[in-house]
Amino acid sequence: RTSQRFQFNVEWKNVSRLCHTKPVLTVNGEFPGPTIAVHEGDNVEVKVTNNVARNTTIHWHGIRQLRTGWADGPAYITQCPIRGGQSYTYKFSVIEQRGTLLWHAHFSWQRASIYGAFIIYPRMPYPFSPPFQAEVPIIFGEWWNGDIEVVENEMMRYGGGPNSSDAYTINGLPGPLYPCSNKDTFIQTVEHGKTYLLRIINAALNNELFFAVANHTMIVVEIDAVYTKPFTTTSLMIAPGQTTNLLLTANQVPDSSGMFVMAARPYLTSVFPFDNSTTIGFLKYKDTRTKKIEPPPTPYTSLPYNLPKMEDTAFATQFEKKLRSLASAQYPCNVPKNIDKRVITTISLNLQDCPVNQTCKGYAGKRFFASMNNQSFVHPSMSILQCHYRNLTTSSYSSNFPEKPLSAFDYTGVNPLTQNMNTEFGTKLLEVPYGTKLEIVLQDTSFLNVENHPIHVHGHNFFIVGRGFGNFDAAKDPKHYNLLDPPERNTVAVPTGGWAAIRINADNPGVWFIHCHLEEHTSWGLAMGFIVKSGRDPSQCLLPPPEDLPPC
Ligand code: C2O
Repeated sequence: RTSQRFQFNVEWKNVSRLCHTKPVLTVNGEFPGPTIAVHEGDNVEVKVTNNVARNTTIHWHGIRQLRTGWADGPAYITQCPIRGGQSYTYKFSVIEQRGTLLWHAHFSWQRASIYGAFIIYPRMPYPFSPPFQAEVPIIFGEWWNGDIEVVENEMMRYGGGPNSSDAYTINGLPGPLYPCSNKDTFIQTVEHGKTYLLRIINAALNNELFFAVANHTMIVVEIDAVYTKPFTTTSLMIAPGQTTNLLLTANQVPDSSGMFVMAARPYLTSVFPFDNSTTIGFLKYKDTRTKKIEPPPTPYTSLPYNLPKMEDTAFATQFEKKLRSLASAQYPCNVPKNIDKRVITTISLNLQDCPVNQTCKGYAGKRFFASMNNQSFVHPSMSILQCHYRNLTTSSYSSNFPEKPLSAFDYTGVNPLTQNMNTEFGTKLLEVPYGTKLEIVLQDTSFLNVENHPIHVHGHNFFIVGRGFGNFDAAKDPKHYNLLDPPERNTVAVPTGGWAAIRINADNPGVWFIHCHLEEHTSWGLAMGFIVKSGRDPSQCLLPPPEDLPPC
């Protein structure tokens, strides 16, 4: 095994976008942060040194962290934050994983600027064709003109927006549809006839995105670092925390500008007022075989015709349906065929009366919060993993997360606003024995009917065996599950007004966060956790904590 070492210095850096210059939290002064590239099977060590007066942690999103939960990163779940002046070395192995993932800060909303690509090169040849000649990471993000900590605090204080970002970005660049951004435009040079592997990463804080490249089709070959059955598409839907590898062949004839526009904009947005703005970049053909058009058209004005419109749920649904793992009857995947436990949980936004003498900006003068099975998750002030490992009986968390909603009601009902109000604030987790074959049904409660929640599970991949609109029906729906070639990933976009069923082999001892990857919703409590107890065999046990684990 090869060891790969990296040094991450968390530091301030002045960054200018949209005519605003502000200090931004960065890793090594880069925005977005550096790419980590390793090979399948490598041991990875990243020494993170915090040089700022704010706490931080880093999460390796989608890395399984088999038995190394100490290196997972979510603050107060697997570690206490790295304080200013401190260092912590994340040590883990990349075992049986290959493809594109991301890393990001997992403290407050620091992901706004602390994020980057995590690339794992496979040991075996790629199972898809055509072969590609170059690869291009394309990371979507958001830019705020203000300090993100202030934005977050205001959002918590007033219980709602407006907190929409000032721009979406491609590799940190907003593109020319935003003010002062002509020079801050992502341009990828391509050569006619060559094929490119686009490593698409959605690191945006609060929005699922559509993406398209004018005139070009793309072949989806991988999601969340798992190969898929390839299919051709004109556009892509991608939720925060998700990654998608696409093959794009530069086989079009450009006009005299030599450019084709690429664009990303929200599918549904979690913020008020709704933000329908668009980030664009360009593919720029190197060769000269261009159609002569006089005068040359301005390439800035027209978006790709194939970019889906906001709220195009039909496209989102069709796209999700096409995602299939490589498995076949002959080469089955290891989706649990039978389960030990099914947990049905709502994922819900709720409203709370505004405290007296305060103005709330949620909805109808109230404030937002969020919950799963009526439990609004509160981050404790110590590391749950540490308490669990030391068998500390503590009041800071409990393992009695309810396995079904507290009361049954119709999630497609006319007025979800008035329902689901009996919410408790606390830190409840689900505890399962090692090796449990677990099914979790994530039921959206149609709040305002515009939400779609990308739910991320730490420490495990899962199989999406079913999804549908309306209420999950435990008697009928499991009969239509896909147990043959369900997509395997780490973040599922639960359909708006519907449900998704995921199956997990709980084979990684530790404490694992499960949460909505819309940062705003996690802050409001749309999260839970699950504890996988160590097994009998030493190989089924969590490793001891590293010595430099930050103290609480
Ligand atoms: Cu990418 Cu818990 O997050």
